[in-house]
Amino acid sequence: MPTPARLHVAHALHTVFGDGERVPDLWDRGLGEDAALGQALLGLCLRNWGRLQAFVKPQLKDPDRGVPLGTRVALAVGLAQLAWLPGVTDFAAVNEAVGLAADRAIGFPPHRGLVNALLRRAAKDRGALRAALDGLPARMDRSPFAERVLAEALAPHGRSAEVEALWSRLSQPPHAAFRLLKGTVPEGLEPDPALPGCLRQAEGAPFPRAWLESGAGMVQDRSSQALLAYAWEPAPARMLDACAAPGGKTTVLALRHPGAGLWALERQPRRAERLKRTLAQRGLAAEVVQADAAVWLEEGGRSFDLILLDAPCSGSGTLQKHPELPWLGDALDLPRLVAEQRRLLEAAVGCLTPGGLLIYAVCSWLPEEAAAHREALLAAQPGLRPANIWPAAFGTPADRGEGGTSFFRPDPMTWEGEGFQAFAFTRS
Ligand SMILES: C[S@@+](CC[C@H](N)C(=O)[O-])C[C@H]1O[C@@H](n2cnc3c(N)ncnc32)[C@H](O)[C@@H]1O
Repeated sequence: MPTPARLHVAHALHTVFGDGERVPDLWDRGLGEDAALGQALLGLCLRNWGRLQAFVKPQLKDPDRGVPLGTRVALAVGLAQLAWLPGVTDFAAVNEAVGLAADRAIGFPPHRGLVNALLRRAAKDRGALRAALDGLPARMDRSPFAERVLAEALAPHGRSAEVEALWSRLSQPPHAAFRLLKGTVPEGLEPDPALPGCLRQAEGAPFPRAWLESGAGMVQDRSSQALLAYAWEPAPARMLDACAAPGGKTTVLALRHPGAGLWALERQPRRAERLKRTLAQRGLAAEVVQADAAVWLEEGGRSFDLILLDAPCSGSGTLQKHPELPWLGDALDLPRLVAEQRRLLEAAVGCLTPGGLLIYAVCSWLPEEAAAHREALLAAQPGLRPANIWPAAFGTPADRGEGGTSFFRPDPMTWEGEGFQAFAFTRS
């Protein structure tokens, strides 16, 4: 019987490669001390999936015959441990993988022998296995979607030649970034020298789980923190976070503008409930509304002088944090997402007060999810003016104005954080 960590990893791989869905947020719940092993192993399997499959193929009797997913998962889990997790014994790596293959729900029992033979052979020289896998071309781990994301991420910064360097960075597990909500900075966290207010783990410090669970701090990516450090003088009286759950950005809006009324919308009922609980735990006042933001805004009679629209998107800027995304992106219905963003954006623009600020953001590098919306809106709505609310360094060379930039799109080669595009408008 495989241990829970390997079983969880195998189930997560089936979710991605069998069901075509993202790894659920709490996929490692209940793993306790084994969570670190599970996370490392799942990351290795996803980030090296293409190369792991390519390594196995020539060793099969009939390489062109389809191999059941249960066999591919068991082999990937076994090989990843043998190649990259030296702390795992040969015995554990091989036997647990054979156990996965034997599991009727997630394995393929007729291939137990095949999995056993292939892994035993690989275990004879783990260094050679690692060298063989690392020596395969990195592009084997990139889907057409991933290739496009890399190209789009680099192009506006004039760095098109740096695809391999960017991929190599995105293939490392990301460093978590934190924000203090109350009290003092706990031991093990230190200020991020490049981003005021941002905290990071000191070298060798453990993940601050207890501090996060106490509600005194939260995880927030560096890009989101930089995005929310916008410079905008007029104090808002009414603010809207139009797509708010899980509430990281709602929290910052509430802390930055404590005197303003805050409405937080979320379409999905369970996420809206979670948002309510999170804000209550943090002692923040906001009117949480479970609704489709566009419908709610179009009901009329509502206006806001600060609107944040952190729209649903492809997530193409989060490949580092979500290594399953390269394998799911090709099946994404991008035109539907883009139309949804446009619908939300138009509704939001209609509720912006004169002199107010609208920030639209997506964690994506794809131009159709932000840059194209911005151009279309500027052309269609003469009353809108770009607002230079971010330091110029966050803009692309073409978008850097004297007083800053109205288009937030950090250079992925010099900025460590998720890929984001955001733009800001005010209305005359
Ligand atoms: C990118 S996430 C927001 C993340 C959030 N701003 C934060 O920083 O924690 C987008 C959220 O919008 C919600 N959403 C998607 N379509 C929506 C709609 N039409 N109206 C309201 N919420 C929507 C999604 O369920 C998801 O929770």
